Amino acid sequence: RLLSVVLSGGAGSRLWPASRQAFPKPFMKLGDSTLLQQAIERGQACGTGDLLVVTNKDHLFLTKDVLAQMVDPPEATLLLEPKGRNTGPAIALAALQCARQFGGDTVMLVLSADHLVPDVEAFVASASQAFRLAEQGALVVFGVSPTSPDTGFGYIEVEHVSRESQRATRFVEKPDLETAQEYLATGRYYWNSGMFCFTADAILSAFERHAPQLLTAARRALESSQVVGQTVQFELHAFGLQPDISIDYAVMERADNVHVVPAKFGWSDVGSWPSVAKAQTPDASGNTMPPDVVAIDTTGTHVQVSSHSPKVVATLGVHDLVIVDTPDALLVAHKDSAQSVKSVVDILKARR
Ligand code: GDD
Ligand code: MG
Repeated sequence: RLLSVVLSGGAGSRLWPASRQAFPKPFMKLGDSTLLQQAIERGQACGTGDLLVVTNKDHLFLTKDVLAQMVDPPEATLLLEPKGRNTGPAIALAALQCARQFGGDTVMLVLSADHLVPDVEAFVASASQAFRLAEQGALVVFGVSPTSPDTGFGYIEVEHVSRESQRATRFVEKPDLETAQEYLATGRYYWNSGMFCFTADAILSAFERHAPQLLTAARRALESSQVVGQTVQFELHAFGLQPDISIDYAVMERADNVHVVPAKFGWSDVGSWPSVAKAQTPDASGNTMPPDVVAIDTTGTHVQVSSHSPKVVATLGVHDLVIVDTPDALLVAHKDSAQSVKSVVDILKARR
């Protein structure tokens, strides 16, 4: 049995103003649908029948809207968090819920709600490789061939990078720049895509071994939760007793049965505007913008306007900009500064 688990938390402040506290990244439309819908469909394409979404209770209705808009929505159980406790607890709770609802031998395909994977067919091929390993008890991570010493990713060491799946010799979450540069130079490392695959039993025994307090706290949080229809709502106090730690630090760095399946699909963690732009096909001038933008002497520029906007956008003599217009906020930034969009959010927060 295969289950999709979609992690849909986090604010994504580097994508302001399209992504906000009240309207975070998973609900952002890229292409025809939201990133959350794309994640759900990615799981469905792999043949997963049921779905577990772990998200904040404030996003219940946004999440239900996404499901309601789908032509063929899966049977979904929603785990509603009263606050963020990072991916460690989110995955532990999903695994406990999966074990009680579907059985411990269920294979969980854990997906992030804020990734772009344009080629779903290629993803399905990698996923079926992952399912086979997961059925044998492995903790599978999907590895991406690194293109830069990015310090925002986990790094997975193997004997030598190849197209075959293999056992990971080491997993290092978010190394510093110098270390990342060394890793890149050896050619023995993958980036962790943040997508995982394992049986509920396998990940629960890994928690048992490497993060027993977390597992105990997660069990208590689930015991004191309220089941209302298709939702599981956690009680604030019990939920808050779980440690704030990611799955990468809590388990992946410590476990010895981690296998990497190389991603034969294009992947991007759409963390910032330049990465959103990179995920789209540029025109001859390297611009990514709606076709009705009047662009003269404009190169390398990304323009995004809300689809209902009556505004005409024109650019003239500008290069490598990001222009994002929403009904109540407009961003104009140079691509080189786009990683600092978070500072804008911080200033706006301080003003409130
Ligand atoms: N439900 C829930 N609750 N989801 C969460 C929470 C939480 O408290 N915290 C994070 N998530 C979700 C995010 O929405 C995202 O979909 C996913 O879990 C990963 O969390 P991020 O916060 O985006 O992690 P990261 O990007 O810093 O690092 C992870 O992903 C990288 C690849 O994108 C790690 O797994 C890295 O090793 C990896 O390289
Ligand atoms: Mg991320």
